Amino acid sequence: MTTDGWLARWDRQQEVYIRDRERRYDVMLAFLEELAPSEPVVLDLAAGPGSTAVRVLDRLPGARCLAVDVDPVLQRIGRDAYGDAGGRLTWIKADLRDPSWPAALGVGGVDAVISTTALHWLRPEELAPLYRTLHGLLAASRGPFLNGDHLPFPRHAPRIRAAAERVDQRRRDDAVGVGAEDWAAWWDALRADPGLAAEHAERAGLWPEGSRGHTSASLAFHQAALDAAGFAESAIVWQDLDERVLLALP
Ligand SMILES: C[S@@+](CC[C@H](N)C(=O)[O-])C[C@H]1O[C@@H](n2cnc3c(N)ncnc32)[C@H](O)[C@@H]1O
Repeated sequence: MTTDGWLARWDRQQEVYIRDRERRYDVMLAFLEELAPSEPVVLDLAAGPGSTAVRVLDRLPGARCLAVDVDPVLQRIGRDAYGDAGGRLTWIKADLRDPSWPAALGVGGVDAVISTTALHWLRPEELAPLYRTLHGLLAASRGPFLNGDHLPFPRHAPRIRAAAERVDQRRRDDAVGVGAEDWAAWWDALRADPGLAAEHAERAGLWPEGSRGHTSASLAFHQAALDAAGFAESAIVWQDLDERVLLALP
């Protein structure tokens, strides 16, 4: 399978979990256009194979992107498919759980930070320092931080939380029922690609407890942590069930 093939399958697999993924991108990019300068340096946080970064580069012709992720398999797929996008895309391997990760960026600040379907992998005690770091990176530009992710309904609304989860599960079952690959099936297929064996071996040590998201940090937690990190405003600008886009401004 070519890397383009894996990328197309990645997008379809992600749509099992975020049904309106392209609509979500559209809203995030519209806010980016609105709030970032015309030739921004945009940090794609936990970029995976670069799905968000390449959409930023398509939509904002003057943008440059820094695509940060720790996963060697996903980065290799993205790198093989997009290269450096004509000098506009830089791939950076760094672990957001390591407080020294910003040193790998090679810049002291950025004009915007964007992240999709990723920060739920971090624990609350990892998110709080991350948000302080992002505030520092955006301090000079006063640019936006856009986080499109699974931000669960509060535990004190248990019936709403449970009903939303059932609706979500039904949607996932329906998508898989008409032939979409889920996360596990996509990774199982990818592991059989001999061209990526070295990257798979490296990846194996990254999440000894198993990958795929750890935290159930609520929207309220995220907003309080952003507030404590110094962000002046935060609000939900798009939502479908508990898939939301949280926009914060320093
Ligand atoms: C579901 S993927 C989303 C990738 C991409 N943003 C997208 O929307 O297609 C989650 C990504 O978060 C990355 N990630 C999780 N924990 C990370 C960490 N501690 N440091 C860097 N990246 C991390 C994973 O490697 C993975 O690429």
